[in-house]
Amino acid sequence: MEQYTNNSPSDSDNDIDLEMLDDPCCNPNKPVEITFEEITSAAYKIRSGISYTPCIRSHMSRLTGMDIYLKKDFLQQTGSFKERGARYVLLQLTEEQKRNGVIAASLGNHAQAVSYHGYLLGVPVTVVMPIVAPIMKIQKCREYNANVVMEGRNMAEAKRVAYKLAKERGLFYINGYDNPQTIAGQGTIGLEIMEQVDDIDAVVVPTGGGGLLAGVAVAVKTLNPSIKIIGVESERCASYSKAMEESQPIHTDIEGTLADGLAVPQVGYNAWRTSRSLIDRMVVVKEEWIAVAILRFIENEKCVVEGAGACGLAAILAGHLDDFKGKRIVLILSGGNIDTTILGRCLERGLAADGRLVKCKITVSDRPGGISELCKFIGSIGVSIKDIIHERAWVTSDVFSVEVKVVCETRDYNHTVELRDMLHSKYKKVRFDNIPMIELGPPLNSF
Ligand SMILES: Cc1ncc(COP(=O)(O)O)c(C=O)c1O
Repeated sequence: MEQYTNNSPSDSDNDIDLEMLDDPCCNPNKPVEITFEEITSAAYKIRSGISYTPCIRSHMSRLTGMDIYLKKDFLQQTGSFKERGARYVLLQLTEEQKRNGVIAASLGNHAQAVSYHGYLLGVPVTVVMPIVAPIMKIQKCREYNANVVMEGRNMAEAKRVAYKLAKERGLFYINGYDNPQTIAGQGTIGLEIMEQVDDIDAVVVPTGGGGLLAGVAVAVKTLNPSIKIIGVESERCASYSKAMEESQPIHTDIEGTLADGLAVPQVGYNAWRTSRSLIDRMVVVKEEWIAVAILRFIENEKCVVEGAGACGLAAILAGHLDDFKGKRIVLILSGGNIDTTILGRCLERGLAADGRLVKCKITVSDRPGGISELCKFIGSIGVSIKDIIHERAWVTSDVFSVEVKVVCETRDYNHTVELRDMLHSKYKKVRFDNIPMIELGPPLNSF
């Protein structure tokens, strides 16, 4: 195992991965394995600046048939676990590095964490955020006195800008998932979980660049190798699964996802080296399930959890972890930073995926009273109409018909079934849009 240093990479590294080599702490030629001792040392050093977050039994245990515990790390000051790694890296800097300042490239959580702890520790911070970064997160970094540079259309471009500025201005670059000290800091969550919950069968870890997964896996497996470590990622950025297929970190195309915190195209080399032999399973979840999980956290736990943090529950709801029924499972709720506008959209998508917000087309009589009769009929079973449009020009049946499109809100799956059956019993032409599968009943695709 190589010791990591903050020195420049050697010339022989040149043909490997130019982008990675700009960060000497993350050298693909010399990946480092993070040890349990480093994690315990990080835990000791960061303890005065990081919240020891609760890990409590979920109200959803009965619904899912599992004994679920929730590690609520979204309760950190800046809304994510990223503070752990950020604070540890900042504390380990030399006096000169502290004076010169640090730089990070991030869409949000890591940038906020570095800005906040830099502010507390008196270290000047520059963060490079791509122009697509959420305004709320940009503002937060500014509130913590960070120098915010808005450059790059995506994270890869922002990173390149950050490397360049680091070199020009002599700033220390902090990788948010692959700096060995970042990984050690994230691993402290694993230590806390082991103190907080007995007889754990599995810990489920949202995975982006792999830093959280690696740190938690080392902490948990060292203390109890029989506990399963399960990583979870969105189908739209499954870079760890791809690395498993290829047996090495590899570039993966990513698409827009509700779990934006996990949108890292390539797993970190140190994170991979540290975690690869400790991971029992990687689960890939669909976006609909992430939306439903965000909704469930709000409705059942009164918690606002961002897409990335909700992936563990999404995996359970989607049935990927059914073999853990009757077992004790800890989900890491890693972040809660979600823009209010995005939250609104997530909730609507969650309701739709859950079969509680449904769209249907009904052809009714165009004679006076036809549409009002439909509305009364729908209202009679307590279904609320959210939107209604009627169409005359393109209806192919008789001219005395009108096609009515309604968006309805129902109580639950059974209520939707009741609505469907009632409409079919009264009207000849009824068509429901495709509704994704939900866990409370059979697929509604056949509507
Ligand atoms: C909320 C949240 N959860 C999980 C992760 C994944 O962490 P890692 O990139 O270390 O795998 C991130 C990364 O930014 C995150 O912001």
